[in-house]
Amino acid sequence: MKTVIPPLKSQGIKTKLVPLIADLLPDYSGNWIEPFLGTGVVAFNLAHNKAQLNDLNPHLINFYRDIQDGKVTPSRVKDYLVEQSDFLLNSDLGKDSYYYEVRKRFNHSPSSLDLLFLSRAGFNGMMRFSKKGHWNIPFCKKPQRFQQAYVTKIVNQVAAVTHKMKKGWVFSNGDFSSLIENATESDLIYCDPPYYGRHTDYYNSWSEEDEYRLFELLDSTRAKFIISTWHHNRFRANPMISKLWSRYNMVTREHFYHTGARIENRHAMTEALIMNYEPPKKPISPTDIELQEFSIPQIKPLFELEIR
Ligand SMILES: C[S@@+](CC[C@H](N)C(=O)[O-])C[C@H]1O[C@@H](n2cnc3c(N)ncnc32)[C@H](O)[C@@H]1O
Repeated sequence: MKTVIPPLKSQGIKTKLVPLIADLLPDYSGNWIEPFLGTGVVAFNLAHNKAQLNDLNPHLINFYRDIQDGKVTPSRVKDYLVEQSDFLLNSDLGKDSYYYEVRKRFNHSPSSLDLLFLSRAGFNGMMRFSKKGHWNIPFCKKPQRFQQAYVTKIVNQVAAVTHKMKKGWVFSNGDFSSLIENATESDLIYCDPPYYGRHTDYYNSWSEEDEYRLFELLDSTRAKFIISTWHHNRFRANPMISKLWSRYNMVTREHFYHTGARIENRHAMTEALIMNYEPPKKPISPTDIELQEFSIPQIKPLFELEIR
């Protein structure tokens, strides 16, 4: 499967998990419901014609609404990035400063095109908002960032998500709860909430109370659900697995996060996918999935899939 890569970047993006989620999907005839959309990579690859896509972060939702409404098009993105590339290279303000001008402009008056610029010229493809809700990622320090090949790559990504976007996709901006409350038995809910006990920012604060709130809603839904969360890393295990989620079917997979250019900043994390249904016993390639026999005390043995 060739994964569609969205134009926005974020450290929490689930690109690498898309093939595994695809293999674990059940049959469903209703809506694809995704209350924590983020960059949208999972929906763009797996959602059907009817989808309800939500995020607390208004900038992400506005970005995709602007694509759906035809306000942000591949050709507008191309013109905009070519122009910004010129400003970035030739700014009188000094090598870094044009990025900070755009950041100030966005924080004063947000726009989808400036969000895209910041996402693609910010340090290491990270997305983070301050306590005031302001974009606060520093510049990647590459004034030549938007060379022709890079602009073409981004424009192609905008074209790919435009092509994938369906008229029947409804975007909303708010808390996750109402989408889950209104789900029906023919729907499928995919949840990728902020990870409890890990990094947070303005749109990603996530308390124990939030995790319980999500659990209670999912535990009582008639829809099928699948949720991504962290299982453990070499230092600790996610306490929410044994407290809440271990009663459901679970598959895990090791994933490497890169938070910096250096090898020391490569963190191995085992992710869990948890479902309230029996996953289809499709043959899954062992190269695509590493099922783990994981035995931190208090965490029950994982549900195992048959591997060919
Ligand atoms: C881990 S990210 C999702 C990443 C996404 N699956 C991807 O691949 O890009 C979690 C998302 O949840 C959103 N969020 C945080 N709290 C929320 C809430 N209470 N309701 C809805 N969305 C929330 C954040 O803005 C963030 O985009």
